[in-house]
Order: sequence, then structure tokens, then C-alpha cells
Amino acid sequence: MNVSDTEIVRALLLSSTSPQFTEVETEDSADLLLTNTCAIREGAETKIWQRLRLLRSMDNHSSSNYSPRPAEEIPTKRGKRIVGVLGCMAERLKDSMFTEGNVDLIVGPDAYRDLPNLVGKLLDTTSDDSSGRASNTQLSLEETYGEIHPIREGKGASAFVSVMRGCNNMCSYCIVPFTRGRERSRELGTIVTEVTRLVEEQGVKEVVLLGQNVNSYHDKNESAIQSRPDSDYKTSSPGFSNTFKSRGGGGYYFADLVDAVSRVDPELRVRFTSPHPKDFPRELLQLIAERSNVCNHLHMPSQSGSTTVLERMRRGYSRESYLELIQDVRERIPGVGISTDMIAGFCGETEEEHEDSVTLMEEVGYDQAFMFAYSMREKTHAHRRMQDDVEEPVKQRRLREIIDTFYDRLLIKNQAEIGSTQTILVEGESKKGGQWSGRSDANKTVVFEIREEDKVEIGDYVRVGVKGITGPTLIGSFKGKTTLREESMRG
Ligand code: 5AD
Ligand code: SF4
Repeated sequence: MNVSDTEIVRALLLSSTSPQFTEVETEDSADLLLTNTCAIREGAETKIWQRLRLLRSMDNHSSSNYSPRPAEEIPTKRGKRIVGVLGCMAERLKDSMFTEGNVDLIVGPDAYRDLPNLVGKLLDTTSDDSSGRASNTQLSLEETYGEIHPIREGKGASAFVSVMRGCNNMCSYCIVPFTRGRERSRELGTIVTEVTRLVEEQGVKEVVLLGQNVNSYHDKNESAIQSRPDSDYKTSSPGFSNTFKSRGGGGYYFADLVDAVSRVDPELRVRFTSPHPKDFPRELLQLIAERSNVCNHLHMPSQSGSTTVLERMRRGYSRESYLELIQDVRERIPGVGISTDMIAGFCGETEEEHEDSVTLMEEVGYDQAFMFAYSMREKTHAHRRMQDDVEEPVKQRRLREIIDTFYDRLLIKNQAEIGSTQTILVEGESKKGGQWSGRSDANKTVVFEIREEDKVEIGDYVRVGVKGITGPTLIGSFKGKTTLREESMRG
């Protein structure tokens, strides 16, 4: 999400006429340094504090390895470069970051349009305000940056497209609803336009639709309601409670969006993240199964394998209903890759409850997993009502057990892939050289060799025969170029 937001910020700054901005190659030569931040766990914030100290130390010629421009050349009021914080940490800590982080500019995730104006204030040597500080941490109920065309950093085969922002779920451990605000979806038409431009103008071969709660996408704009006044879209997965918000009514839902985006070009792969397991109605699963360019990979963040912990987390499902959903997904979408997020050591987690998480990892056999030790966040329900009572060493040991179980199981799963042929979208040359890497339909990283006479480019679809594995990566050899249409005919 932050990569995608940074692309929006880049577009907003580079299109500003007053002041004007240009991008520079190195930090030394910049007058404005912005860092986009995450607040989801304490660890994410620790990294930012370190980064801010480093950026600020660059002001001081003698104490850094950098050679910044002399103060008199920097056009700001204080004669020093502007250091700004964007994103969730800015939103969480607001103006307290001025002193704690020694920064000049603080801008929350919904206020990026105000960035040129805020920087303008810091540059204005005639204003009465001598603080040398500017901030905007206003959250919005509407902002989606819908019509902005993000500017990507590289020319990779894959692009992010932000489709909704915010989250209404209020999982009891999570700060996102407080730093990113309420859920709102971008107009479907603007998304299709952006995807079409990415394909036609930049030759993009894969889009990843993004949102904090992506599959609860609901375009309720007037034009959407007019063209689809009564949708009978079932918003939730069977057996999951969706009591967090009032749903229903007309407009476009996530399956409509995936349908529209996947029709832009049959050679464009479509992925999405990050979903909530509660928003996978049958209609959506069916579409993923049937549409050959919608990738067979689903992120299904379970967070815990224990029904009682899931209740305390306010996730709206039990272990059993989660497992039923996984089974349903596997039956409908053969070969689907499934990934998860897991939290070890949530408030009050007993050894037995932790065991349930370990056995869930075992039972599901995930293809990818993001696993974390619980980190208490202020403002959340858990912070107000529960005790962060699992000792740190216990959390770390439980996390290790979850990680080990994941890798043990993954190894067995990946070994079973040896001998298979995978369709890979080539993403780049592997660090080793002479080898290329890309991802399979199910989102596995695959590294493969080519013969001297073979020519491969980033953005090609290739068939790769899997010969071995190293950790989570599949290793194979090039069998020939292909297209998604050709592969779908192969069946
Ligand atoms: N502590 C640890 N992990 C967390 N996550 C969210 N909040 C916390 C927290 N307070 C994890 C969840 C989520 C992922 C993005 O980060 O697993 O899905
Ligand atoms: Fe956080 Fe839950 Fe929303 Fe995900 S669904 S962003 S975990 S509140």
C-alpha cells in the first residue's frame, strides 16, 4: 500500500506548478526528503525513528557520510532541507513527531493533495509563520485519489492499482482503521481507465488490485448505483459474520471489479490483496476459477487457528468456518495457492490456543505466510480492554513454532511440484546472473535457467519445468514462451 501511495505522492508533486518539484537521484542532492511510514507494529515504527535520525544527520556535514548541499543553496526558510513524514505513523502520532522526530512536515494518508501547499508554506520566506513546520493529518470519508495517475518508479511487468482505502472491520488488535480511516472505494470506471493505460502505454502484464480490505470493495457512486440499482451480490462468505457494517444495495462489488479489470486484456494477469476471508462469496470464487487471467492465488489471513482467540480478535469467524472456506476454495479452484497472516501471542493466548494456530498451519499447508509476534497498539479495542500478557520470550517461541511448522509443510508441498510445468511471468534477471525469475499463477517465485540461444525478456510468459527447490523458491528450466490464451486452451 505504501509503494502504491508513494506513486500517488510522486504524481501529485511532479504535477504541481507552484512550487515546482523535480526528482533527484540521490538523497544528498534533495531539498525535500519524504519518508512513507507504517504503524502496524512497533517494529515498523522503530525502523522509521532510525531512518529519521539518519536523514536529519545529513544536515550536519561533519557527522555524516553524506555531502549535502550548502545551507545557503537550500531554498527553505530555515536554510535546511525539509524532512517530512507521510503515512500511518504521521497519522498516529500527528504533531508530536515535530519534536520527537525532529521533522518539518507531517502528512497523513488522506492529505497528500495538500502536500504542494504545505511545502510551499515552508518555502515562503515572506510569511509571518516562523515555526518552519507544517502538517495535515485530516482523515477523509471520500478521498480515493481516484483520478490521479500514479507514477511508478521502475518499468516492471507488474503494477499496483489502489482500488479502495481504509477499513471498517475493527479487528481488536489492529490500528489500521484509526490511521487509514473509514472504508471507501474508487469509481470502477477510473480503475478500468488506469489499468487500460498501464497496459497500453506501459506494457504492464500484471496488475495487483490493492486495498486494506480489498474484497469489500463497493462502488456506491451515483453513476454506479444508476447503472446497477439492485445488486443481488452476496457480500459474505457462507458461515462468516459480516455484522461490522451495513451492506447491500446497488452499485458495483468486488466481483464486478475483477470481472471488468480482467476483461481489459486477456494477456493481463490480475491479482489482488489484501482481502478479509469474510468477503469471498461463491460468485467471486467462481469468477476466479473460470477467468483464466485472474490468478489462482488467494491471500486468506487467518490471524489465529483458535476460535476463542478469533473471537477476542473480533474476526467474525471460527476455526471451523475458516477451514470450510479453505476446503470450498480448493474444490472450486484446483491448484490454488493460499497464503496467510498469523499473529503469535495475542492477549490472553493460552498454550492450548497457540497449539490451535500451529495445527492450523499444519492442516492448511499454506504456500506463503506472513507471521508476526503480537504488538500492542494504542487506541485499539485490545489496548483499551485487554492485557498484553504473553511474555515476550513466550511470544517469540510461539512465533518460531508457527514459522517452523509453516516451512516444514511448505517443503513437502513444494517438493510435490517437482516435475510440474508452470506458467511464469518473467519479472527480472536473478541476482546470480544467467538465471531469470518470475512468479507462477499460484504466486510462487520460480528461478529458471535459459540456454544461450533462448531470448527472454521481462514481461514474457514462459513455461518452466520445475526440477528442484531451494527453500520457498522453485528452480526449473525454460521450456518455451507462451501466452495466457495458449495456456488456458491447454487446460
Ligand atoms: N500486532 C502484530 N501483528 C499485527 N497485524 C496487524 N496488527 C498487528 C499487531 N498489533 C498483522 C496482521 C495483519 C498484518 C498486515 O499485520 O496479521 O493481517
Ligand atoms: Fe486491520 Fe482487521 Fe482491517 Fe485487516 S481487516 S486492516 S487486520 S482491522
